[in-house]
Amino acid sequence: MTDLAQDRTGPQGTLRPRSADQELRARARAVIPGGMYGHQNAGPLPPEYPQFMRSGRGARIWDVDGNEYVDLMNSYGPVVLGHRHPAVEEAAARQAAQADCQNGPGPVMVELAELLVETVDHADWAMLAKNGTDATTACCTIARAQTGRGTILAAKGAYHGAAPWCTPRPAGVTPADRANLAYYTFNDLASVRAAAAGAGDDLAGILVSPFRHDAGFDQELVDPAFARGLREVCDAAGAALILDDVRCGFRLALGSSWEPVGVRPDLSAWSKAIANGHALAAVLGNDAFRGGAQEVFITGSFWFAAAAMAASIATIGALRDEDAIATMARTGEELRAGILAQADNYGFAVNYTGPPQMPYLTFTGDRGHALASEFAGHAIRHGAYLHPRHNWFVSAAMTGDDLALALGATDAAFAALRRRLSGS
Ligand SMILES: Cc1ncc(COP(=O)(O)O)c(C=O)c1O
Repeated sequence: MTDLAQDRTGPQGTLRPRSADQELRARARAVIPGGMYGHQNAGPLPPEYPQFMRSGRGARIWDVDGNEYVDLMNSYGPVVLGHRHPAVEEAAARQAAQADCQNGPGPVMVELAELLVETVDHADWAMLAKNGTDATTACCTIARAQTGRGTILAAKGAYHGAAPWCTPRPAGVTPADRANLAYYTFNDLASVRAAAAGAGDDLAGILVSPFRHDAGFDQELVDPAFARGLREVCDAAGAALILDDVRCGFRLALGSSWEPVGVRPDLSAWSKAIANGHALAAVLGNDAFRGGAQEVFITGSFWFAAAAMAASIATIGALRDEDAIATMARTGEELRAGILAQADNYGFAVNYTGPPQMPYLTFTGDRGHALASEFAGHAIRHGAYLHPRHNWFVSAAMTGDDLALALGATDAAFAALRRRLSGS
């Protein structure tokens, strides 16, 4: 693969063959099952995508061969202020220089818990962990501990993590792993009521995403009446309303992604953006579920490490001080307007769905995401790293130049698709 970036008009105007990436992939195949796994596996992506990345700053990233891209994925969500945000990196480094992983947490754990409780509308307490799956799993466990019941309702097709109870792949999962789950359809209150009735007096909680962001599907914003209806069903049953804010948290609103909707969950799961790329997750809850949270034994060797907590405090501070959510929304609106104008100009029917900070583009009638993949392959050649089957993430670091580069790349991608389809 030596000519991948042949028509690349990227920021440095340089084309580098993917030799370092290819060499790493070959070495990885010998020592990593499948060469790579999980959501960052570049194997299913168009061949233009690098697997291995070298660095990032602001809204720009570089692969191991030195190719530069404007980043529209931001580590699939964790990077919200841009790569290597100075205040966040300084806070993490200052804490790490003192101590990171010790016999007990540092004072930053209390400071961060206080900040989270002050920032998030429904939170009376906070527990910290590492990954989103830790947090969603803990929410379910706490709901069960508090209610003394077993059944959790989740939306069909929603992603809540990679543990056996929620992984989208069936390999290695037993029916017993899913025995206490029942499913409803997002934004369909009747299906929730039916699933709740099916659970009878065993309903421990209802797990829901802020909006429908299932990978590979057009996104669907939440109907506020649906959110209010979930709250009512939970109140009537004495069950926990659990918001999975892992993907959206701190991109749509600071007080939780349902703060603007006006619905407060009992428990919420957070990770990804809360420490701008440092490994951290949080479970937040209200006083009604404090007892259950106190009873459960949940922990991890690295859950109390202090540097990521310091990074999180700095991240929340910067999100506030830099008005980052409004900035992301504005940039996202401009990206949407630009891409929709381009699609129209080149005669493509597309669906551009989701909030502006977390958009997703599909081509109408595009079977197997074939056109989307071709589009993404062209876009990355021209310097925009986006994704054909997963929502994108806009960061607050995107400048006018970054946006211009991204839109230049998408314009070139639409043009290339149109040329291919019209046979010219
Ligand atoms: C909505 C949602 N919940 C949970 C998770 C799991 O988080 P993690 O991958 O950090 O375990 C993710 C990850 O993408 C997610 O998007």
